[in-house]
Amino acid sequence: MQIAIDGPAGAGKSTIARMLARELGYVYIDTGAMYRALTWKAIKNNIELNNSQALYELARETKIQFTNPSGDQRVICDGEDVTEAIRSPLINASVSLVAAKAEVRKVMVAKQQQMAKFESVVMDGRDIGEQVLPDADYKFFITASLPERARRRIAELQSQGYEVKPAEVEKEIQARDQMDCERSVGALKTLPDSIVIDTSLLNTEQLLGKMLDIIGEKKHVL
Ligand code: CDP
Ligand code: CDP
Repeated sequence: MQIAIDGPAGAGKSTIARMLARELGYVYIDTGAMYRALTWKAIKNNIELNNSQALYELARETKIQFTNPSGDQRVICDGEDVTEAIRSPLINASVSLVAAKAEVRKVMVAKQQQMAKFESVVMDGRDIGEQVLPDADYKFFITASLPERARRRIAELQSQGYEVKPAEVEKEIQARDQMDCERSVGALKTLPDSIVIDTSLLNTEQLLGKMLDIIGEKKHVL
């Protein structure tokens, strides 16, 4: 079983993907964390974020793993736990630049497909339904209004101890969405078979219930 979840920043994708995976007993794969880890390593190694060739080579040599895939998941980059480091404002502001490189995406998509080969997965990102798991059993597109997504991201950053300027967070999310939607490869979009859910007025429990209903109904028809 493959469940693909795509959508813009702060829509609640990772939260719901984790809950769904736990509920169904599947493995959760956070592809955004993989692009974030690569960006973290590129910055650490002083790699110019416009240097496609260097980023391609970095993507190929970097090992990204998830420990405890169905519980309190940690992101490990070349043996180092980067779970918290990859959520910083600097990574938020830089990751879409790295993710826009076609060469980088080729490597990352192959790694993600490999991870989904032998297990039932819930995978979230931007291009999952179109590129990574084109034959997924369910393709959800999870969204919410920009102010609501910004509100969620601000609360999240504040709870991690970051001092944030709300207007800047909203601008950063908007800029990242624009880059993610307009790039030439792996762009974020709804697909003809996407199940679109606006979560602006839904809490996570309500959303989980809705998605489980959809999965249950379709399973019944099949
Ligand atoms: O959590 P949030 O939605 O803010 O971001 P994320 O899912 O962690 O993804 C961070 C960035 O990685 C996105 O803004 C995209 O630029 C990139 N990404 C991507 O290009 N393709 C994916 N499948 C997942 C993430
Ligand atoms: O992965 P994505 O960027 O789409 O969103 P997320 O990281 O799952 O959620 C961003 C923040 O919004 C988290 O702190 C969630 O707890 C919160 N959230 C919420 O308040 N209400 C929802 N319905 C979904 C997420």
